Amino acid sequence: TQKDLDEILTFTIALARKAGALMLEGSKAILSSHDVSEKKNAVDLVTEYDVRVEELIRSEIEQAYPSFAFIGEESYAAGKRPELTDAPTYCVDPIDGTTNFVHGFPHACVSLGFLYKKEPSIGVVFNPFLDQMYSAMKGHGAYLNQSTRLPAHPLAPFPSLQTALIGMEWGSDRSASTMGKKTRSFTQVAGDPTGGVRGGKMAHGFRSLGSAALNYCAVAAGQLDMYWEIGCYPWDIAAGVVIAREGGGQVFGDKASALEGKVFTSDMIWGRKYLVIRGVADTEEKGSETQKR
Ligand code: IPD
Repeated sequence: TQKDLDEILTFTIALARKAGALMLEGSKAILSSHDVSEKKNAVDLVTEYDVRVEELIRSEIEQAYPSFAFIGEESYAAGKRPELTDAPTYCVDPIDGTTNFVHGFPHACVSLGFLYKKEPSIGVVFNPFLDQMYSAMKGHGAYLNQSTRLPAHPLAPFPSLQTALIGMEWGSDRSASTMGKKTRSFTQVAGDPTGGVRGGKMAHGFRSLGSAALNYCAVAAGQLDMYWEIGCYPWDIAAGVVIAREGGGQVFGDKASALEGKVFTSDMIWGRKYLVIRGVADTEEKGSETQKR
């Protein structure tokens, strides 16, 4: 019921604050110990705090909602890999932006997504370094610090790609084939391959700030016009999807991509390529423009 969802949102926001406090403590510890491990490769990092923060979140959820399913980045890495079912499910990244976290770059967050019947329904993303709490419930808007409805200012219509500020990430998949796709995409929207003939076709700029979840929030806030990445996991985006959509954005996964002008559905949360565009008008047209470029 709506009352249940309201309670879950309140609980999730309080939980994100608790997790954020542990992240801040962890940041000091890691910056002095430099105790960092690698997962699938040398740029896929993990610290004891990723595990501890996830454990805190998991146990609090288990106490409050024993019947809810739990999918978490670190439990998944440790082999606990439940299927996504229709059951109420938390999908959690304890520290999104671990690379920033270990470098002391203050752009990392806890990302708590809640899905019901496989549909992302509540999203809470908290950056404890900047004390920014993004939250959203499906159908009820997205908020910063529970008071400012997003986007915080009236948005101009979606600009063309040429005048957009675009978030893109390098991610941790640095294989030659994926890097080829990423660098080609960067070059296509950043560069002017015809040496001036197409002058003015370049995007205004790119930002790779190192947190998928916070990129979604930036689209919701109207700070980024779009964000594109190959290589996200469900926990990177489960919360962000709700926040971006409630902020007026459109989210597309790779199974029916924006490039085909189709709309995100919940099963795409398991896809690995994402495009988020701010604004609802005109999206198909922008999608085909993306394809052309
Ligand atoms: C990563 C970050 C990064 C993105 C990767 C994610 P993590 O999450 O969001 O910006 O490029 O795709 O996996 O490992 O810091 O939780």
